Amino acid sequence: MNRNLTQNSHIKTKQLKINVAVLGLGKMGNTHVKAAKASPFIDKIIGYEPTAELALERGREMKIETVSNLDLILNDQSIKLFYIAAVNEAHAELAVSALNAGKAVMCEKPMGITMEEAKRIVEAQKTNDSFLQIGFELRYSKLYMKVKEWIDAGLIGKPLNSYCQYYTYASHKKDTWRAKSKGTLIGEKLSHYLDLPRWWFGREVTQTYSMSAPNFIHYFNHPDNHQISYKFADGAVSSLNFVMGIAITDFQEKLAEDGHLLTYFIYGDKGAIATDLFRKTIKRWSFSEDEKQLKSKVAEEITFDITNEWVHNVHDQNMRIAELVAKNQKPDHSALDAFETMKLCFAAEISTRENRVVKLNEI
Ligand SMILES: NC(=O)c1ccc[n+]([C@@H]2O[C@H](COP(=O)([O-])OP(=O)(O)OC[C@H]3O[C@@H](n4cnc5c(N)ncnc54)[C@H](O)[C@@H]3O)[C@@H](O)[C@H]2O)c1
Repeated sequence: MNRNLTQNSHIKTKQLKINVAVLGLGKMGNTHVKAAKASPFIDKIIGYEPTAELALERGREMKIETVSNLDLILNDQSIKLFYIAAVNEAHAELAVSALNAGKAVMCEKPMGITMEEAKRIVEAQKTNDSFLQIGFELRYSKLYMKVKEWIDAGLIGKPLNSYCQYYTYASHKKDTWRAKSKGTLIGEKLSHYLDLPRWWFGREVTQTYSMSAPNFIHYFNHPDNHQISYKFADGAVSSLNFVMGIAITDFQEKLAEDGHLLTYFIYGDKGAIATDLFRKTIKRWSFSEDEKQLKSKVAEEITFDITNEWVHNVHDQNMRIAELVAKNQKPDHSALDAFETMKLCFAAEISTRENRVVKLNEI
């Protein structure tokens, strides 16, 4: 009896295992391969790079089978899930081909580098009724999940105003696809930081106004700084101030001293939350009222180490996606939700170019 049970559960686990492909075997592709190797729901991993030489080289380095012919993996019925970690310019083409070939897809942000590309991706997902999750991995970070947990528990009341400051160094080097990208840093980088308040507040964004100063970094094809304000359907507001181009340091421990900043302040009508990545704290205040005025007290403060789990949790996101696809379940975060974040990104790009408020329903 016990033996049968063990055998049955063994068969069950075996049936749940899927084969996956990782497309684009650069830095992020390597992270995806590592997560795939760690997943109990993944059997075989096949890597893809469009040039044969690089495919072979990366295959040797990552110790996986690789191909340089896309059709081979598109037509391979045993591959259920594609992780797309190619350069941003290739996302739309790869995602649409994969969805049309019946694959489940996890695609890195941005969801295309133009609104038209994002629409093509979302249309292909709808037409094929496929699994599609975009890599907004900050939704799996312990730091930002804590904010979500506090807001959902009603601990700051109704969130009304948030402000993100993100000051970082010129990590995007000369003559790389990032410096030369046709897309902007709004899609490439800030999509994460515009996505978070959308997720926390759980409300629709209706309009945005965005400005950029002249560049600090002359070799970028696009602005290296952005001030983006946006408004939610219920009147709540949010803004993000981003600068890439300040002090350079090689050591994460020194970032806080070197003028780097990645903070959020989120104010509700019953409390507030502040996250400070480089100072490694998250803090919550609760508000009360006496006969004279409103009062505030610190209700909770947590310190953490800068680990992937607390900050950039691609690993757990990808493990989770493998499990969802293997079990034939829906994504944790829908493609349409990601599309709404991308709409905000593209609206902010238009606003910067045309120097006007852009309503999201006009694009
Ligand atoms: N935290 C995050 O969410 C995060 C962090 C870093 C990168 N990313 C995303 O991951 C992706 C890859 O970034 P990276 O840092 O690994 O860049 P990278 O330059 O290290 O790697 C990109 C790889 O894509 C390959 N490539 C180019 N054209 C391709 C095509 N048509 N099909 C398949 N592969 C192709 C390149 O040869 C290269 O190996 C980007 O979309 C980036 O936005 C996300």
